[in-house]
Amino acid sequence: MSYADYLDLRTLLSAQHPLAQPPQHDELLFIIQHQTSELWFKLVLHELRSARELFERDELQAALKRLARVKHIQATLTGQWSVLATLTPSEYSQFREFLATSSGFQSVQYRAVEFLLGNKKAEMVRVFDREPEWRAVLAELLDQPSLYDVFLQLLARRGFAVPREVTDRDWSQPYTPHDEVLQVFRQVYADPAAHWDIYETCEELVDLEDNFQQWRFRHLKTVERIIGTAPGTGGSSGVTFLRRALDQTFFPELYAVRGVIATGSVERSGER
Ligand code: HEM
Repeated sequence: MSYADYLDLRTLLSAQHPLAQPPQHDELLFIIQHQTSELWFKLVLHELRSARELFERDELQAALKRLARVKHIQATLTGQWSVLATLTPSEYSQFREFLATSSGFQSVQYRAVEFLLGNKKAEMVRVFDREPEWRAVLAELLDQPSLYDVFLQLLARRGFAVPREVTDRDWSQPYTPHDEVLQVFRQVYADPAAHWDIYETCEELVDLEDNFQQWRFRHLKTVERIIGTAPGTGGSSGVTFLRRALDQTFFPELYAVRGVIATGSVERSGER
């Protein structure tokens, strides 16, 4: 077995098919940037699926090991925007028309990561109506609990007062924040030492979301410097559409608890 055989390099290295006529030097960068992102998305999904299973088996430390790896992949994905940022508007405009209506919006793996983390949107499944194998992957994830859902179930098993409507619900629906869950996190953050592994997991989840937002932000800024305020090839308003995603959160109560703690400490210090 050779290096090329093991890695199936003939397939991998022959999967770049620039379309522009006449050929444009910069299209290869554009293709490879997307393909490498998709490869990393594949590994992120692999790790997140495993982390979710480990949460379900109450193997918190092993799950945290998975999440640690995801965080490094996210950092790599975010860092790699600087390569694409070398693509100027003039260079992109030389091959943009050949992409037609294809867009990252149609990335099934990106959407799968969002579903796994908890951003469930049933209408996203329909984007893949003409690609049944992708549609099936997404439809399955839509109906399964997210990483956050299984973490909240774990908290319930540990005796925290997570309400039944949170631990046993229709997983295909978007998650709605609950005050009782916020109270659970208040309890955890009020005494980290007493709940150390849970506290650590909460912070890992916040890291994950923070990293995800860094990726979204760098995507947005790279897109802005390449196409300005023009609409996207996928038909959206472009940068305006991408900016809206920055307001989304996977783990709402983990952010809400920060406000509660900060407000409490301001009240205690008597500041105005
Ligand atoms: C010149 C480079 C790029 C431009 C101009 C661009 C532009 C856009 C725009 C305008 C959208 C909104 C949907 C649309 O109307 O098309 C979008 C979505 C998206 N793009 Fe890019 N993009 C670029 C590179 C990339 C790369 C390298 C990736 C890596 C996989 C990527 C992944 C995504 C994803 C996942 C979405 C969906 C985001 C969401 O729905 O929240 N894009 N892109």
